[in-house]
Amino acid sequence: MKILAIESSCDETACAVVEDGTKELVSVVASSKDFHEKTGGVVPEVASRKQLEFIFPVLERTIEDYCEKIGYSGKEEAVASIDALAVTIGPGLIGSLVVGVTAAKTLSIAWKKPLIPVNHLVGHIYANFLGDPSEITFPAVCLLVSGGHTDLVLMKGHGDLVYLGGTVDDAAGECFDKVARMMGISKYLGGAVLSKKALECRDTGVAKLFPRPMLDQDNYDFSFSGLKTAVKRYLDGGERDIPCTARQFEEAVVDVLTVKTMKAVENFGVKSLLVGGGVSANTRLRESLKSATEGAGVKLSIPEPRLCTDNAVYIASAAYFNNAIKGLSEIRAEPSLNIMGLI
Ligand code: KG4
Ligand code: ZN
Repeated sequence: MKILAIESSCDETACAVVEDGTKELVSVVASSKDFHEKTGGVVPEVASRKQLEFIFPVLERTIEDYCEKIGYSGKEEAVASIDALAVTIGPGLIGSLVVGVTAAKTLSIAWKKPLIPVNHLVGHIYANFLGDPSEITFPAVCLLVSGGHTDLVLMKGHGDLVYLGGTVDDAAGECFDKVARMMGISKYLGGAVLSKKALECRDTGVAKLFPRPMLDQDNYDFSFSGLKTAVKRYLDGGERDIPCTARQFEEAVVDVLTVKTMKAVENFGVKSLLVGGGVSANTRLRESLKSATEGAGVKLSIPEPRLCTDNAVYIASAAYFNNAIKGLSEIRAEPSLNIMGLI
């Protein structure tokens, strides 16, 4: 079954075609990131206007690449081969989401295809199902670490998710971004920049400069705003070595994420850990979770970095595993499908 998915929850406009939830056939991602760099953060109005500007070229390009990849003679043949559409319906910026949802609903009417709504965070989990998901076993613990979310979820099966806990203030990615800005090394989306900077640290000392928030609490919640403040105070306190401060900060975030995640893994006795969201592209986090899961005999799944950040491939995968395998007859195929109650 081939699903064409659209993702437009924030500053990426993405479209992909995926077969049977696991085989990526084509993926196109356009980003308005450069525009937000100038303002040091996403201005929702700018993001939604860029969505509007990018959506048609991204859709066109997806169909063209799909034709070329499969060898279809023309767009009609390509469109006819698509079984269903999927679209991110939230969470995200409303102005950005509306663009993708409206495009998807319009195509659903024009092409007479069912439309499957997908939660963006559930989508991030499904980046782990691309390729060969045969080693993933249920129940699994999922760690979602993005710019807007830091959550631990127990996945009992497809469509059967239990929220365990999450951040009570800043998300891990947001904290990376704000600390990178404080350090003056990046104005927007500084996680990867900060991580690269940390590699320049030559200090081999092991003293921990920053707190590991909420590690002593018996729950699955996180808090990163105190850590951010601790870094700010430290930076304001004198001349600081930026690479080593970056490394100390990164280690604090990675420690907290690893310890709390492994606590959930142990307490629920799961044999699979799935990780998703932009921060899961972080090399130190990947290394730390790898060694923790190896020690515990747990299978770790983290998507390749390209699939950790926002794209439509995992939206198509989530749509397939949560709906399509039950049979298309169960999906309401009417064009009036009331996604978001907007139209
Ligand atoms: O999932 P995502 O692309 O968008 C949201 O849904 O939020 O995540 C973006 C977040 C940003 O905060 C970005 O700085 C962070 O992921 N990020 C990283 C790395 N790559 C992206 N954080 C730390 N290390 C990285 N290598
Ligand atoms: Zn995301």
